[in-house]
Amino acid sequence: MTDSTAPVPSSIAGRPFVPLTGTVIEVKTETPFLPKAAFVLISIASLVGVYFTGRMHGLEGVALVWRWLHFWGLALATGMLAWRLFYLRAAEPGLSPQRVAAHHDALLGRVRVVSRYLVPLLLLGAPVPWFVEYLTNTQSAVLTLSSLCVAAAVLFAHTGRASALAAFLVGVTGLALWGWFDSAGVASVIAVRTVHLLAFAAWLGGALFNLGAAVPAGRLHANIDAVVAGARQLERFRWVVRVALPTVIVTGVWMALRYAGVGNSFWISGLGLLVPVKLLLIMVLVVIFITCPLYRACSPVRGVCNVDDLGGA
Ligand code: HEM
Repeated sequence: MTDSTAPVPSSIAGRPFVPLTGTVIEVKTETPFLPKAAFVLISIASLVGVYFTGRMHGLEGVALVWRWLHFWGLALATGMLAWRLFYLRAAEPGLSPQRVAAHHDALLGRVRVVSRYLVPLLLLGAPVPWFVEYLTNTQSAVLTLSSLCVAAAVLFAHTGRASALAAFLVGVTGLALWGWFDSAGVASVIAVRTVHLLAFAAWLGGALFNLGAAVPAGRLHANIDAVVAGARQLERFRWVVRVALPTVIVTGVWMALRYAGVGNSFWISGLGLLVPVKLLLIMVLVVIFITCPLYRACSPVRGVCNVDDLGGA
């Protein structure tokens, strides 16, 4: 397995790298700003959402932020695993099997590294259901158990698809259970809230995979086959964002309109103001999603953002 945690070799960092085929692949040292900004803004939007729901359910103080930490860890792990399971391919049609396999190994190496950071986060968030007063003991036990199971299974996500799939399915179940327990048994609210949470997880965890795995692994494999494989993965993820973005808006607006209609004074002060804040955040995220490929800002490796940049190579 390629050691993808090693620093970028000086021979390829920051200046053109000439692979054996003779094609010049430019690799920038710094990670582009826009994907990092998107990651932070999605996280802030989720904090605002969890705070809003928590307050509506009567939570106060530390429990509000701690509950968000639980959601954030679960969503990061679940969405990252979606990329590892569904967008990543060990072989890509028309590309060198050896180079794609080496790039794939490096990506899995990064999944291992990122998972090690996710485990403490998941463990830290796991007990919070016991401090959320509106949950029954059984509900708290199930939610805590799902976080613990994800933490255990994600550690092995890089070794095989079975562990990754197990962690992913438990993560989806954990989020769906929150959607259920937070919605007072109203079927339409359960469905809409769960879809909101899953779209958030797919987007946030995908952004994490891009920054934590795709960018560092891509830097170490600056050859044309790895670049094209990386570009195809990114394009698969872009389709997920194209679905997740309108989904969070439609489901979010639907949930908001349950509290008060458009033009109601509830939205201009206090807790209600958080919903316009979310709308503002989502608008900035739409702008980032559009400008990122335009400015080739999704990856420091030329060609990953748009393969056309490789010219006739
Ligand atoms: C990147 C964008 C977004 C993310 C990551 C996000 C994430 C979340 C999360 C994690 C929750 C907490 C659910 C819970 O605690 O059960 C939530 C709730 C909520 N979100 Fe979003 N959201 C986003 C965009 C939006 C948008 C655009 C709106 C629409 C204005 C919206 C409206 C809401 C509302 C109203 C709730 C509270 C629902 C309730 O408690 O009844 N969200 N969101």
